[in-house]
Amino acid sequence: MASSSPKAKAASRKNTVTLTDNSSGQSWEMPIIEGSTGPRVIDVRRLYSDTGFFTYDPGYTSTASCDSALTYIDGDEGILMHGGYAIEDLAEHSDYMEVCYLLLYGHLPTAAERRDFEKAITYHTMLHEQVMYFYRGFRRDSHPMAIMVGVVGALSAFYHDSTDISDPHQRMVASHRLVAKMPTIAAMAYKYSIGQPFVYPRNDLSFAANFLHMIFAVPAEEYKVSPSLARAMDRIFILHADHEQNASTSTVRIAGSSGANPFACIAAGIASLWGPAHGGANEAVLKMLQEIGSKERIPEFLKRAKDKDDPFRLMGFGHRVYKNYDPRAAVLRKSCHEVLEELNHQDEPLLDLAMALEKIALEDDYFVKRKLFPNVDFYSGIILQAMGFPTSMFTVLFALARTVGWVAQWKEMIEDPDHRISRPRQLYIGKTKREFVPIERR
Ligand code: CMC
Repeated sequence: MASSSPKAKAASRKNTVTLTDNSSGQSWEMPIIEGSTGPRVIDVRRLYSDTGFFTYDPGYTSTASCDSALTYIDGDEGILMHGGYAIEDLAEHSDYMEVCYLLLYGHLPTAAERRDFEKAITYHTMLHEQVMYFYRGFRRDSHPMAIMVGVVGALSAFYHDSTDISDPHQRMVASHRLVAKMPTIAAMAYKYSIGQPFVYPRNDLSFAANFLHMIFAVPAEEYKVSPSLARAMDRIFILHADHEQNASTSTVRIAGSSGANPFACIAAGIASLWGPAHGGANEAVLKMLQEIGSKERIPEFLKRAKDKDDPFRLMGFGHRVYKNYDPRAAVLRKSCHEVLEELNHQDEPLLDLAMALEKIALEDDYFVKRKLFPNVDFYSGIILQAMGFPTSMFTVLFALARTVGWVAQWKEMIEDPDHRISRPRQLYIGKTKREFVPIERR
């Protein structure tokens, strides 16, 4: 992908910024680089060698760690695009398989390309039978994300023929395997935790329908997947497919920058996603709504969210990048009502509570001032709960859908001829050199 992606343009010599050290009066010119859209960046790659300075940016709020042609976000405008296509259009007119193809190959597939791709994914959905025994090593009450980290990491012990990252064919096979096997691994993590037999993948079902079947079917009777629920599931997958250089994607890139195999890198991404400030937020939203319990208690929780001495935050609100409505939340808000109607859950008290909370928070000065809008996790949790998923599976579904983004970003990095091992520097604030003191004198 990156081999065909346009590299960022180094701007002409006059497009520079000047850095001046006021203590010495010395100045240095630094080039400005332009992408195809979005903020320009100051190229600081030679900063240390030319000036002896590092930049300081904990949390990378002002740092572009790479160039990428996959996903564009304008957080102020609430825009998310993959390959130039608006997320709203993809959610409305496309499906997850097409979005996967778009991220992996850089364009929407023709009918023939789509057929071949879907076949390749479908025929990689089964797991090596030996992997099944791996599950038995986990306690039944393990969090399914713990199982995901373990089993996905273990794939590198099973698929040796796709771990040579210097071989483009093996890279693509590993990418297909990861996208295809993730639903099977996720469904088995769930089945294991509830003590039901594993349900094998079915090649006659779509990606989303097959996943729902592996989750909800039991061998004892036929389970018919509802087409509208499969569509809602597919839409959730689309909305989570990629989100540029977030914590888990950056984790995958950093792990991959050392040359680690893709299965190990994706396991690292899953670990990063697990945290409540990232993918774990949808689970946290549901727990929070249950804790709030009724509309009358909303003011009490809003007060807590504003109190700097209270660690409580309103889960599902705020985003590092979106300082406007999260466009994924807007799509899911609509989907949420459709799903609840299909399932006859219109009177779902948690949704009622969520809507009241959204309304009050959107009008509250604290949230308005800080541009804290509902994010994608605010709605996905409600939909998933109505569909019958336990809260512990919410982040697993996020990981499943995000796998294509992770592998596309990993591939893009490996295929970038300029890529180097990621190695940030630091501002050291510890002790300076001191004498070693033998233990008897400490
Ligand atoms: N509830 C109450 N106050 C908040 C919240 C919240 N959810 N989010 C941010 N703030 C306040 C924060 O205290 C700070 O206030 P002040 O300026 O007075 O110190 C201000 O808003 C800016 O917050 P920040 O922590 O500097 O923002 P950030 O960009 O570092 O954090 C975030 C972004 C998503 C981690 C944070 O908004 C948060 O913890 N939200 C709740 C968790 C959540 O829903 N996460 C899902 C993110 S979307 C899914 C994904 O892409 O992974």
